[in-house]
Amino acid sequence: MTRISKIKAEDTYKLRKTVLRQGMTLSHKMDGDHKVDTVHLGLFESDLLVCIASFMKSSRDDFKGTQYQLRGMGTSKAFQGKGYGTMLMKKAEKLLTSKGAEVIWCNARVNALDFYRKLGYEIRGEVFDVPQVGPHFVMFKKLA
Ligand SMILES: CC(C)(COP(=O)(O)OP(=O)(O)OC[C@H]1O[C@@H](n2cnc3c(N)ncnc32)[C@H](O)[C@@H]1OP(=O)(O)O)[C@@H](O)C(=O)NCCC(=O)NCCS
Repeated sequence: MTRISKIKAEDTYKLRKTVLRQGMTLSHKMDGDHKVDTVHLGLFESDLLVCIASFMKSSRDDFKGTQYQLRGMGTSKAFQGKGYGTMLMKKAEKLLTSKGAEVIWCNARVNALDFYRKLGYEIRGEVFDVPQVGPHFVMFKKLA
């Protein structure tokens, strides 16, 4: 059985380290983790946290309206490809829409482009490099 709920920044750290920071010196802690309007969501399977994402209010000049940046999106390796990332993102979009969000954007790893494309996210601009992590594109989705 799965459930999705709000979690604390600290709850994301273990999965961030293993799924997103393996072999890197980059910190698993992020600026904005503890801001009042930041939302951390977790998907649990049988009480095991297997998928995480964090949403931080952050505006880019090239988008209009209230914007949240998605950061730290990751599914535990053994649980990838089961639809959990998609479930978490759909729940997040509903929640953020109810908070007045108009755009969700992220710096998407090139290996995850198809995941975001399937959720309706579009690329904005050119590829750029994030040291240690690799090539990224800005991707965004306008919420209804
Ligand atoms: C990207 C990631 C978060 C997706 O989570 P997930 O729970 O596996 O996603 P889902 O099972 O909901 O997959 C949805 C679709 O995206 C596709 N997809 C998932 N991960 C993908 C990847 N790494 N590359 C390409 N496509 C991917 C799947 O093919 C799936 O489509 P399908 O159902 O038609 O086959 C997960 O693979 C992950 O944690 N990757 C490592 C960390 C990472 O790159 N995070 C993103 C940082 S920007």
